[in-house]
Amino acid sequence: MSSQPKKLNINKVNLLLDIAVFIAFLFAMDPRSTGIAIHEWLSIAFGAAMIVHLLLHWKWIVTVTTRFFRKIAAKARLNYVLNVLFFIDMTLVIFTGIMISEAALPALGIRLQENFTWRFLHSFTADFSVVILGLHTALHWKWIVDSFKRYLIQPLMPARRMPVTVQKEVQS
Ligand code: HEM
Ligand code: HEM
Repeated sequence: MSSQPKKLNINKVNLLLDIAVFIAFLFAMDPRSTGIAIHEWLSIAFGAAMIVHLLLHWKWIVTVTTRFFRKIAAKARLNYVLNVLFFIDMTLVIFTGIMISEAALPALGIRLQENFTWRFLHSFTADFSVVILGLHTALHWKWIVDSFKRYLIQPLMPARRMPVTVQKEVQS
C-alpha cells in the first residue's frame, strides 16, 4: 500500500510566515531591546523573508499588474497601491540601515563614513512603515482572523471538532 504524500497547505505556510515576519518587525522597530548587531542581522533576514512573502504571492502580483487599468475589484487595486508603497518604503529602510550599519558591514570589512542624512531617512522610513503595516494588516484582517481560527485555535481544541454524539461518548 502506498501512502499519499501530504499536500503542502499554502495558506498555513502564509500564516506562519506572516506571524514570523510580524514578530521580527516588532523587534526591528526597537533596536535597544535587541542590541545593534541583532537589529542589523535580524532586519537583513527580514528582508530575505519579504522576498519569500512576495514570491508566495507572485501569481496575485502578476494578475493585478496586468489587469490594473482594466476591470478589477477596487479592493485589489487599493491593496496593490499600498503594497507598492510598502515595497518602496521597506527597500529604503533596509538600504538606509545598511548605509549606517555599525555591525554587519564592519563584520564584512566595510566601513562607511557617518552620515546623518541616512540616519534621519532610516528613522523616518521605519516610522512610516508602521503606518503602512497598520493599513496592510487592516486590509487583510478577515483573512488573519479566519486563518488563526482554522489553523491555530481549532487544532488546539480537538473536542470542538468532534460530532456531538462522539463528544458525549468521550465524556460518559
Ligand atoms: C511585517 C511585514 C508584513 C506582514 C506581517 C504582512 C502580512 C500579510 C498578510 C496577513 C497578508 C494576507 C495573507 C497572506 O496571503 O499572506 C499579506 C499579503 C500580501 N502582502 Fe504582506 N505583510 C508584510 C509585508 C509586506 C510587504 C513589505 C509587502 C510588499 C513589498 C507585502 C506584500 C504583500 C502582497 C503582494 C500580498 C498579497 C496580495 C494582497 O492581498 O495584498 N507584504 N501580507
Ligand atoms: C525591517 C527593517 C528595519 C527596521 C524596521 C529598522 C528600524 C529602526 C529603528 C526604529 C531605529 C531607531 C531609529 C531612531 O532611534 O531614531 C533603527 C536604528 C538603526 N538601524 Fe535599523 N531598521 C531596519 C533595518 C536595518 C538594517 C538592515 C540595518 C543595517 C544593516 C540597520 C541599522 C540600524 C542602525 C545602525 C541604527 C542606529 C542605532 C543607533 O545607534 O541608535 N537597520 N532602525
